[in-house]
Amino acid sequence: MADKKKTKIEKGDSKRVPTGIEGFDELCGGGLLRNRTYLLSGAAGCGKTIFGLQYLYNGITKYGENGIYIATEERPDQVRENVGKFGWDFKALEDDGKLAIIDACSTKIGIPSHEKYVDVRPFDLRSMMDQIIAIQDTIDAKRALVDGTTSIGFYLQDPSKIRVELLKLSTTLEVLGLTALMTCEVADDEASSRFGVETFVTEGTIAMYNKRMENVRVRSIEILKMRGSEHSHNIHPYEITSSGILVHPKEEVY
Ligand SMILES: Nc1ncnc2c1ncn2[C@@H]1O[C@H](COP(=O)(O)OP(=O)(O)OP(=O)(O)O)[C@@H](O)[C@H]1O
Ligand SMILES: [Mg+2]
Repeated sequence: MADKKKTKIEKGDSKRVPTGIEGFDELCGGGLLRNRTYLLSGAAGCGKTIFGLQYLYNGITKYGENGIYIATEERPDQVRENVGKFGWDFKALEDDGKLAIIDACSTKIGIPSHEKYVDVRPFDLRSMMDQIIAIQDTIDAKRALVDGTTSIGFYLQDPSKIRVELLKLSTTLEVLGLTALMTCEVADDEASSRFGVETFVTEGTIAMYNKRMENVRVRSIEILKMRGSEHSHNIHPYEITSSGILVHPKEEVY
């Protein structure tokens, strides 16, 4: 009987994709469900990009899963420099063919890019998907980060179009065998998405907050939705430390 129980747990765990972010995986049964796309929402500066990049970095360095980073809002050079402060050497991972960064930012703002992978047609999701498919052929990634969906949404404007296009993107990632995070910037803590549709096209929603409490701001994280999985329904504090995000799963924020 005990053996049976053990087997069941192991079987369940093999479908999980641990983020490796300390304290987070225990909020959702060991990690994300494989081949699904999750929305990571939060106001500016709350740590969405760091969370997503740590997920990719841990994937490569702890779990042997290559990653694709689609940067729509920050230039790759700046990102490499920023993550260097956490001790993450992205350049080395790229040189080893374990990480691919798509520069989907420079063309959009009209500046040249010297990156290996450049999305030359701004806001063209079809070309972005073609690029991801081509990269996938080369590096056989298991994880992806689309950072972020907000600029795509502003371009498309119409919520029904945003919904269809993001569904196409998330489904493409899933079909390619990628477990993905898509970031979404929200204007205030009460909203879980910018255009009111993003959360419907993803399998789960993780909300990050940076709430003001008297004269300090307190960072906290909550899993709002995770289809097919049990998860914590509480709001847990997290910190951004010199080695990245650290969640306190046993503590709650009220
Ligand atoms: N090396 C570091 N050590 C500690 N905290 C840091 C470090 N680097 C960044 N931070 C914190 O993380 C914040 C930025 O995080 P991040 O870029 O992930 O936010 P974001 O949610 O993606 O924001 P945006 O919506 O603007 O893209 C900074 O405002 C700062 O408070
Ligand atoms: Mg960001």
